[in-house]
Amino acid sequence: MNSSGKKSLGREVRILGTGSCVPDRVLTNQDLERMVDTSDEWIVTRTGIKERRIVGPDMAASDLAEVAGARAMKAAGITPTDLDAIFVCTVTGDHLFPSTSCLLQARFGAPQAFCMDVSAACSGFLYGCETASAFIASGMAETVLVVGVEILSKFTNFEDRGTCVLFGDGAGAAVFGPGPGPHQILASHLGADGRFGSLIELPAGGSRRPMTHEALEARQQYLTVKGNEVFKLGVRGMADACIKVLDQAGLAPDDVDLLIPHQANLRIIDATAKRLEIPPERVVVNIDRYGNTSAASVPIALDEAVTTGRVHEGDLVLMVVFGGGLTWGATLVRW
Ligand code: ACO
Repeated sequence: MNSSGKKSLGREVRILGTGSCVPDRVLTNQDLERMVDTSDEWIVTRTGIKERRIVGPDMAASDLAEVAGARAMKAAGITPTDLDAIFVCTVTGDHLFPSTSCLLQARFGAPQAFCMDVSAACSGFLYGCETASAFIASGMAETVLVVGVEILSKFTNFEDRGTCVLFGDGAGAAVFGPGPGPHQILASHLGADGRFGSLIELPAGGSRRPMTHEALEARQQYLTVKGNEVFKLGVRGMADACIKVLDQAGLAPDDVDLLIPHQANLRIIDATAKRLEIPPERVVVNIDRYGNTSAASVPIALDEAVTTGRVHEGDLVLMVVFGGGLTWGATLVRW
């Protein structure tokens, strides 16, 4: 697997505020029992998921992103006119184009901000964070909003029990800025291996296979997952990424106060934490309530850890992701 480490060659970068937003509508395992041949017992045992949030038909990624982004800006004590850039990390944006980040910029009234979407599936948020950090560290930007948002329910086949139990919708956000102080990014690592791209994919709707009548008949508008293979690669990839950032910072797993892993499967989270020998009480888990929200999962979990007082000033927080592409990454923050 190919990957690259880093380098802190510029200004210090820190998180100024976080926010999140999930839809009100709850889809429980019992609801799914009525839709496909599954059971609450199977879903909980194999994944740890009890319920997930699903948007209504009129909602799109920018709607959740707007609320999460506004909450992050409020927590950071800034207004949209302070933003130099908006990065939206998503594979389920409102459209192929224009980008969801441009839609957000117009809604916020932030014409001075440049915008782009970041496509790294479940790893998207940390890819966006690292991009924001690079712009800020280099002096090319002062204040950047990064939103991870996903509306996977609109790309899920609710007749396929193998996938429809796994995912949920949501958004999480963070504002980044320069300077020393709390919530400092200490180290980060990103990696990818495109040879495994077909393990998690959305077959139709792109230039390779446009959304034709035939594609719709073949149900190719829905995502596919080779769960078993992703499972094994996920555990190894997340543990390795954690070790890489900890090594960069001269720290060890035992120093980690809070591990915030991508919420794809409780068994993947447990196995990763076990490999690192980080005890369960230091691991953030909310997959039971939200399922896998892809790029939104880590920023939602981070925001919940902040707003519930689970993370304290001075804590070493390790965020780690793994997902389609394949992609992975880890970011270490001194809170
Ligand atoms: N209810 C009941 N039975 C089911 C269901 C369901 N919802 N889904 C699958 N099964 C059945 C299968 O048909 C199979 O039956 P069979 O043995 O008669 O063929 C049996 O359960 C076992 O299926 P497996 O796929 O082997 O089950 P596994 O224990 O691997 O769990 C899962 C599947 C949950 C998808 C797991 O592999 C996983 O979480 N993988 C990684 C996470 C992942 O892929 N996430 C997707 C996004 S990518 C990311 O976020 C990293």
